[in-house]
Amino acid sequence: MRRSDWLTRREFGRAAALVGMGVLGPLSLLGRDRKKKLPPDTLPSPQVEARGFVGPDSLRSHAQAVGLFVGCAAVPELLDMPLDGGSSSDPYTQRVAGQAGILVAENSMKWSALRPSPSTYNFAPADKLFAFAARYGQLVRGHNLCWHEQLPAWFAQVATQDNARSLLEQHIQSVAGRYAGRVHSWDVVNEAVHIPDGRADGLRNSPWLQLLGPGYIEMAFQFAALADPAAKLTYNDYDIELDTPEQTAKRGQVLMLVRRLHARGVPIRAVGIQSHLQASGPQPGAGLKQFIRDLAAIDLEVYLTELDVNTHALPGGPDVQDAAVAAVYKNYLGLVLPEPNVKAVLTWGISDAHTWLNQSRQSWAVRPDGARQRPLPFDDMYLPTAAFFAMRDALDFSRMPIMPNDITAQPQAPVGDPYAPFAVPGSPVPGSPGTGNTPPTPPQL
Ligand code: XIL
Repeated sequence: MRRSDWLTRREFGRAAALVGMGVLGPLSLLGRDRKKKLPPDTLPSPQVEARGFVGPDSLRSHAQAVGLFVGCAAVPELLDMPLDGGSSSDPYTQRVAGQAGILVAENSMKWSALRPSPSTYNFAPADKLFAFAARYGQLVRGHNLCWHEQLPAWFAQVATQDNARSLLEQHIQSVAGRYAGRVHSWDVVNEAVHIPDGRADGLRNSPWLQLLGPGYIEMAFQFAALADPAAKLTYNDYDIELDTPEQTAKRGQVLMLVRRLHARGVPIRAVGIQSHLQASGPQPGAGLKQFIRDLAAIDLEVYLTELDVNTHALPGGPDVQDAAVAAVYKNYLGLVLPEPNVKAVLTWGISDAHTWLNQSRQSWAVRPDGARQRPLPFDDMYLPTAAFFAMRDALDFSRMPIMPNDITAQPQAPVGDPYAPFAVPGSPVPGSPGTGNTPPTPPQL
């Protein structure tokens, strides 16, 4: 064992405390189940540790209280499902089970994962995710049925203009059909708009478009509706959150696309806004809110499908990162969750220990100082970050509480004289004894 694999005395003390709390497994005391030793200053403050975050204090419970779904992308291979049905001491498993009311496979339900060859399917990881979700009473989103990325290597050799329609149909029949009735929503088409490709309709020049023309989108939705009529069929896209010229234009094309689908009777039920946000630079605002309302006008639900906050361009240590990330969660969720057609929010991972932003070597993910990113509600030690509390507060304040006397009931105007005064629910009754110091009697309507 190299020197750097050992924990410092201070880290050992802290890890021992976390093992006692059930947060870490005993192997962590040996420093063996941590991929990388963390500097002590990345550990959470004692104040954060002292605040509750499980059971009734979890994201899942707080979301349920306001009728929203909260969840995360998960990696089935990392989930520990003891065969005896007992609970696991693995911290990743505990967070996914305890914090999420809805799961999505980060990669396991994409073509590249499901289709090792043109004639074979690998459903094992996806099946495990569904089994896990069933054990913990969670919903599952399907991601995704038609995308230009993460196609298997054989696809380019096998797919032709003649067989592409049946390839798409068979894939959707097999995959959406297998899980029919168990999927909350399917990302049927992912990332189909890309304005730099220069088409008037804004569509991406993807393999699917080249093989089948722009009608592939409609086809995919029709196949999905036949395979799983219960799932809410969703169009999912990224870089549509900001009011910058590029993102405003892309959001406009996405709106046009889903309006066209809606007008043609295509069974689309929702739009997924990926929500891969940046800690620095412009933030989402009025344009996004209007977009969500425009979607409501054609009866579409909205899911925030892949939320995380990238700090690759933000200088500063872990505290600076945490504060900036939490501020983005607060502003963003405060802006969008109050819109009634926004029904679900999923983060792209649950803990900084497993996030694509720490796995990618791309310039948009790597920090110049080499530090790890901290984009998610739980940190590398599976303890809640400031973003966790920002998210939970935003859930709490996202919906108006239901008033005891139902202020949503429509007041009844007297028939015959539209100008005559009439009682409005919740207002004091004129002339009643309640107009003095005693509380007014609720009007009888
Ligand atoms: C990402 C995964 O997180 C990575 O592990 C994988 O290497 C690439 O794909 N938009 C999407 C997701 O719709 O499927 C992507 O997931 C992130 C961007």
